[in-house]
Amino acid sequence: MAKINFIEHNGKEHIVDAENGMSVMNAAIDHLVPGIDADCGGECSCATCHVIVDAKWIGVVGRPGEQEESMLDMNPEREVNSRLSCQIRVRDELDGLVVKLPQFQI
Ligand code: FES
Repeated sequence: MAKINFIEHNGKEHIVDAENGMSVMNAAIDHLVPGIDADCGGECSCATCHVIVDAKWIGVVGRPGEQEESMLDMNPEREVNSRLSCQIRVRDELDGLVVKLPQFQI
């Protein structure tokens, strides 16, 4: 179990409880966090679950895999700590994780 803080582009925070093993994307969808579209349902093929991981957390979360990297490469909103939230699995170590939402999901 982990608490995850989603911060909208306008600064509004949504702190949600997420079960281990689910994706960060599913945690957002389950709690109606706005700004995560997740059009492909978590198949790493749409990039509309884009989040920017807080710099303090990127070392724990880790960097994208090859397929995720190729999806992020096509996203003009990409930042240095961008991840696709469907590719991040919740685990105890992520308790307190902070992710920011981009202005637009593309
Ligand atoms: Fe489509 Fe994450 S939900 S890439």
